[in-house]
Amino acid sequence: MTVTDEIKSRLNLEDIVAETVKLRRSGKSLSGFCPFHPNTRTPAFVVFPDTGTWRCFGQCNEGGDIFKYIMKREGMDFSQALKHLAERAGVQLTPPAPELERSREVSDRLENALEEASQFFRHQLIHTPAGKPAHDYLQQRGLQDPIMEAFGFGYAPDSWDALQTSLLEKGQNLQNLLDCGLLTERESGGYYDRFRNRIMIPIRSAEGKMTGFGARVLDPNDVPKFLNSPQTALFDKGRLLFGLDKARKSIRLLDQVVIVEGYLDVVALHQAGFTNAVSPMGTALTEDHLRLLKKYTRRIILALDADAAGEKATLRGLEVAREAMDHGAEVGFDVHGLLRHEKRLQADIRVTTLPEGMDPDEVVNRNPDEWKEIVSRAAPLVIHVMESLARSRDVNDPKMKSEIAATVVPLIEEVPSTVERDAYRQRLARLLRVSEEALGGIRSSGKMGRQSARFSSRNQRTDQPPIHPVKISANDPVSDMEKHFLALLVKMPELIFRLDRNLRQSDLEKISTEDFGRTELSEIFTIISTSLIQDEMEPLGYIQEQMDPAWKEDLTRITNSYNPDKINEDDMVNDLFHTIIRLRQKKSRENLLQLRYLQEEHQDQEEFQLNIPFQDQVLMNSQMLNKLERALLLNSQKRQI
Ligand code: UTP
Ligand code: MN
Repeated sequence: MTVTDEIKSRLNLEDIVAETVKLRRSGKSLSGFCPFHPNTRTPAFVVFPDTGTWRCFGQCNEGGDIFKYIMKREGMDFSQALKHLAERAGVQLTPPAPELERSREVSDRLENALEEASQFFRHQLIHTPAGKPAHDYLQQRGLQDPIMEAFGFGYAPDSWDALQTSLLEKGQNLQNLLDCGLLTERESGGYYDRFRNRIMIPIRSAEGKMTGFGARVLDPNDVPKFLNSPQTALFDKGRLLFGLDKARKSIRLLDQVVIVEGYLDVVALHQAGFTNAVSPMGTALTEDHLRLLKKYTRRIILALDADAAGEKATLRGLEVAREAMDHGAEVGFDVHGLLRHEKRLQADIRVTTLPEGMDPDEVVNRNPDEWKEIVSRAAPLVIHVMESLARSRDVNDPKMKSEIAATVVPLIEEVPSTVERDAYRQRLARLLRVSEEALGGIRSSGKMGRQSARFSSRNQRTDQPPIHPVKISANDPVSDMEKHFLALLVKMPELIFRLDRNLRQSDLEKISTEDFGRTELSEIFTIISTSLIQDEMEPLGYIQEQMDPAWKEDLTRITNSYNPDKINEDDMVNDLFHTIIRLRQKKSRENLLQLRYLQEEHQDQEEFQLNIPFQDQVLMNSQMLNKLERALLLNSQKRQI
């Protein structure tokens, strides 16, 4: 039983209402004057003890459970109402999960140590003779003081303990320095500074919080060229993008992000005014990276160097599943992976290629307009692949034609949009000077063909059994559907938009808190919706953080009750659509029952009969039922086509 259920089982709604409203029993319900709208003539406010719900059939035309009642009466938010009622019911709320409190405290400590370290490095770069060569080097690479300052560049002196000594003097403790990756443990015992004689580049989260450092050698003989912070509680390369804290405003403004490969490229681009550039840190682009970006834009441009994007890498990337490696140049460009991310995240990923042998910083320092031109040349993934293959091969050679087709056709098959697929097929046919029919035969030939077939949207649709959305349990069917609905939505909050579109197409209202009879569930829904319009955190993280701690365990139980990982988005949207319609049907039927019942109960009370718009409400609910029925029918016809 959830805490809210527990509370409801111990408190009677009618007792709580009766504290401020004079209730009169008639049959199975109680009625009185609505406390939420001024009125002294019609007792339109009804409490149903059986279901523990209330409703105003008059002006408010609103209802809910005990939580909503208290929230309205006392002007409380859900958490406050939960505490208030838990206390009254003598239900013990779980205190905020201690590990959560602890983890927040840990991040604060580590962040603080990293901030102090970055000040130390900065001082070394600017104010010490030892930092001069580093400063000179950066200048010689075209970076000026203001941009170095904006990005917080620093220098780690060539010493085993300078940082450690300085920070310990400032009151940091050893454990903090270890935990945030600034020190390394000696095998023989003791610790030494991890970063020595390097240019220090702070890496911040999208919110601007310190997470770690990227550190570049000065001495070209030192390896590795870049040494990054190790994985820590704050530093996770798969989830951080360098420069995002500085770029996010302009990414949103321009509705476009440009992803480059190197730290110094990002900085040079920002200096030249191209402030929508970010970079991963020597790893392949992960879905987490793209999710992070999706809060600001869906339009993503990859600016790859000629080697990484070119013909060889393209083919290699297709054949070998790439591991994330700690070395930029070795990280392949996995077109299949990107296409899947693109599809799943409904993103628009394009690729542009840099001039042979040049990095973005060199391009932009040579001529900023050239950078603009390169970005404007970005092409969709599939086009990029077919063109770079065609460029480097003799497309008149029949063997080459078929090789290129065997690589590209499976990619085309992965594209979800029919229109786009057709366009790509036509383009490939033209490029290879063959007929489109000839391409049709290629689909499943060769190794790549088979592999891609597994991921093709077409197969997904037929291979997976249709899911059966609604499991109704006997005791509380409505809330089971509500939970099912929310469990789906927590997994993929962004589906709300598609669901709303479908509802509107069926001439139905967008989904809202009104769709949930239980206050705690409508509360979750609100949090899910706002998780999408905030940009501070990942939706899931946001949802977890916003949840009342007392209720979090129950949320986890709900979300775990359904595991749709392998199900495609179309099925999920369909499931959501069905569930919400069923919920609304259920609600309308319940309203009708209540209305009929009330009408009968109050037959002899003229005042009641005159002042409650029974007929209107009955009509409204019946019309709604028809509309819902129609929507279900149309939807199932659409799915069958
Ligand atoms: P590059 O080797 O292309 O270096 O690595 P770069 O950024 O062009 O650096 P400069 O211009 O020589 O100064 C690209 C990116 O890959 C990561 C870094 O994020 C780097 O910016 N990388 C590279 C590592 O993490 N570790 C390495 O050893 C090398
Ligand atoms: Mn470079």
